[in-house]
Amino acid sequence: MTALVIAMDGPSGSGKSSASRGVARALGLRYLDTGAMYRAITWWMLHHGVDLTSPAEIAARAAEPELTLGVTPDESSVTVDGADVTAAIRTAAVTAAVSAVSAVPEVRARLVAEQRALIGSGDIVVEGRDIGTVVAPQAPVKVYLTASPEARARRRTAELTGTTVEAQRAAMARRDTLDSTRKADPLVMAADAIELDTTELNLEEVIAEVLRLVKERT
Ligand code: C5P
Repeated sequence: MTALVIAMDGPSGSGKSSASRGVARALGLRYLDTGAMYRAITWWMLHHGVDLTSPAEIAARAAEPELTLGVTPDESSVTVDGADVTAAIRTAAVTAAVSAVSAVPEVRARLVAEQRALIGSGDIVVEGRDIGTVVAPQAPVKVYLTASPEARARRRTAELTGTTVEAQRAAMARRDTLDSTRKADPLVMAADAIELDTTELNLEEVIAEVLRLVKERT
């Protein structure tokens, strides 16, 4: 068997992270969270007072932050210039700002190259928005996870404190629109991806379905 790459794409709240980790654990594969890389660059830009309304300024600074990532399901820590930002990249401020940063082609070019280097020869589950279309179009298994807006907002609300389903639904709709309408590598399902609607499925069922697809396609 050739080295395995499993591409897990989809919008936020579709269940990508938990399912990707679960699949990686079940198969003894590495795990790469590409969203964490966009979040880490965004954290650095906020920390350094970069004007996020200026794509030119974001582009000019895109190469500066140095990232390191843990790439196993149990060790997915992130550092920027040596500082551990694993928790800091999950704050509401970073979540609200990340789509402006991830839309800038210079940011994407840098991170896509780093993601390909981390994928290396494979044996990895990679989650993101453009893995099956841009980062690893040769991946033998591509899953595109979806769920109803209600289910996605409910899941995200359960993970956070001090928010409501309504507020989450509005924030996610805004991020989806930005991510899927940007010019550079928008969120779109790969032609050869399998769409998996997780609205009515629990985590174990999603993992089992992906494992079934892996068996079928490899
Ligand atoms: O998956 P997560 O919600 O952590 O991703 C954060 C943001 O990073 C997304 O809203 C999107 O703007 C960006 N992203 C991306 N391409 C990826 C992964 C994430 O543009 N492959």
